[in-house]
Amino acid sequence: MRKIAVFASGNGSNFQAIIDVVQTGELKADIALLVCDKPGAFAIERANAARIPTFSFNPKEFSSKEAYEKVITEQLTSYGVEFIVLAGYMRLIGPTLLGEYAGRIVNIHPSLLPAFPGKDAIGQALAAKADWSGVTIHYVDEGMDTGPIIVQERVRLSEKETRESLQKKIQNIEHKLYPSILQMLLTRGEVQHDEKARTY
Ligand code: GRF
Repeated sequence: MRKIAVFASGNGSNFQAIIDVVQTGELKADIALLVCDKPGAFAIERANAARIPTFSFNPKEFSSKEAYEKVITEQLTSYGVEFIVLAGYMRLIGPTLLGEYAGRIVNIHPSLLPAFPGKDAIGQALAAKADWSGVTIHYVDEGMDTGPIIVQERVRLSEKETRESLQKKIQNIEHKLYPSILQMLLTRGEVQHDEKARTY
């Protein structure tokens, strides 16, 4: 079974969705480690409840991104992690982690990239009065939500759309889409770049 690490910074509802499908056996993976850059985040409680080891750290206590990513890389190596799943991790991945895991790091983002990258994609879509937004799962490169797209799913915004209603629609999709795409990526042998975006 492939060993994965999930990186999260906050609530961790996507992390929970992944835990749930691992526990039912729908996703054949071993969540070896949660990496969290916010020591008080609820994601850590979710890991504890599921008996998943956690590495949490405060980036301010390190001299640089390189310094904390070196420590993360050591942790990942010691747990035998092969694949990294970003789920609400609010930091750019730097050259240290990319050097070790290039092509083996994926992210989920709450918009149809390249529209609305970066923070508060839901607020950006509302402010732009967009007719459509959605969810993107993509490989991670050094940019902000710029890596090769694996899959996208669209969401129609209604005229009365609020932040809460849009967030709910998007998260409902995320919690199904991420586990199913992870299952596809992790069970097809070599984990590799899929340059062909699949849109539906
Ligand atoms: C998700 O909407 C994800 O797309 C984005 O951050 C949010 C994390 O939510 N990258 P949660 O912590 O998984 O509840």
